[in-house]
Amino acid sequence: MSGLFPTYNRFNLSVQSAEGTAVQGEDGKTYLDFGSGIGVCNLGHRHPQVMAAVEEQLQQYWHVSNLYHQPIQQEVAQWLTDHSKLERVFFCNSGAEANEAAIKLARKATGKSKIISFHQSFHGRTFGSMAATGQEKIHAGFGPMLESFEYAIYNDLKSVVSCVDHHTAAIMIELVQGEGGVIPAEQAFITAIEKLCQENDLLLIIDEVQTGIGRTGTKFAFQQYDVSPDIITLAKGLGNGFPVGAMLAKEQLAEAFGPGSHGTTFGGNPLAMAAAKAVLQHVFQADFLEEVNVKGKYLKACLEEKLGQHYQVRGQGLMIGIVSDADISSMVPELMTKGLLVLSAGPHVIRLLPPLTVSTDEIDIAIQLLTEVLLQQTALTVQK
Ligand SMILES: Cc1ncc(COP(=O)(O)O)c(C=O)c1O
Repeated sequence: MSGLFPTYNRFNLSVQSAEGTAVQGEDGKTYLDFGSGIGVCNLGHRHPQVMAAVEEQLQQYWHVSNLYHQPIQQEVAQWLTDHSKLERVFFCNSGAEANEAAIKLARKATGKSKIISFHQSFHGRTFGSMAATGQEKIHAGFGPMLESFEYAIYNDLKSVVSCVDHHTAAIMIELVQGEGGVIPAEQAFITAIEKLCQENDLLLIIDEVQTGIGRTGTKFAFQQYDVSPDIITLAKGLGNGFPVGAMLAKEQLAEAFGPGSHGTTFGGNPLAMAAAKAVLQHVFQADFLEEVNVKGKYLKACLEEKLGQHYQVRGQGLMIGIVSDADISSMVPELMTKGLLVLSAGPHVIRLLPPLTVSTDEIDIAIQLLTEVLLQQTALTVQK
């Protein structure tokens, strides 16, 4: 019997080691990792520069708390602010914590309480981020939820407008809903949301926990939508596997988070900062991002060509969903048996989040395995 809480239905794979796109099981089998630890190891496992940076920091110091200045925090903050045009950064340890910080900041800065988020969104598992998450299955058994969250329909402006009232502080949104099914926001919808925020004095919070740090082919997904969010949240790819989160916000919100207003013991830990600095130095290079776009387009086009008759393929950059009419829950373990690790996003979507460093050869292998398993499934469904 396991001593762990049974919070996860784990697959039958015990990991021994991992390198680049490959994960090695204790059974001696090697798997191609197209999940990247749920969109985290964007530079692949054990990336040499990230490892070297963490090892170097390990020799200097591990932790002193946020009572003291830590130049490495300033350096990472500088990278993030220079490239996002948001002026302030709060470091924490996860996506949920980053969203928790965003919710608190929005309430304090505006003096209003209501946050509008979206059906099938995912923002985390803490009380604030869970309440922001528009999925009943995530709330089940934990009620009552925090008050003042209302869920609008994604890509439906009228539904958002009907939620706005004089208590509304902010709209919180993912630009590609990740856990909800890899659903990209429409450009016109996001442009209209930004206008709605401006006209009603609402803050625009963009959750980039999954889409940020190069995943969708730009440094941050909001840069593809030509919007200027007031707050963005980051985690996942930022530390390439070292736990770290961040909330970035516009300068005018800095005052609301003065001394004593918010805090964390571990946030901005120097080992996490060393990892993040190495990640940003790498991912924010224009040629690196260009390659992500090329590989993402290639993967999507090949999947559309091979599977398009039976499945819808959607997503941006290297964040791709394959949508099935049938339940995909048996396909994920079957792909694993054949040596390919993928994720699901709800009962009908296979989600691919390969490392951004994935090679074209690795993409070709994955396409072949996906085609094999998914077309076989279609044939079985037709036979029935
Ligand atoms: C968009 C989004 N926001 C927030 C979170 C929560 O992040 P964490 O699991 O690091 O708390 C996730 C995790 O999947 C996510 O995809």
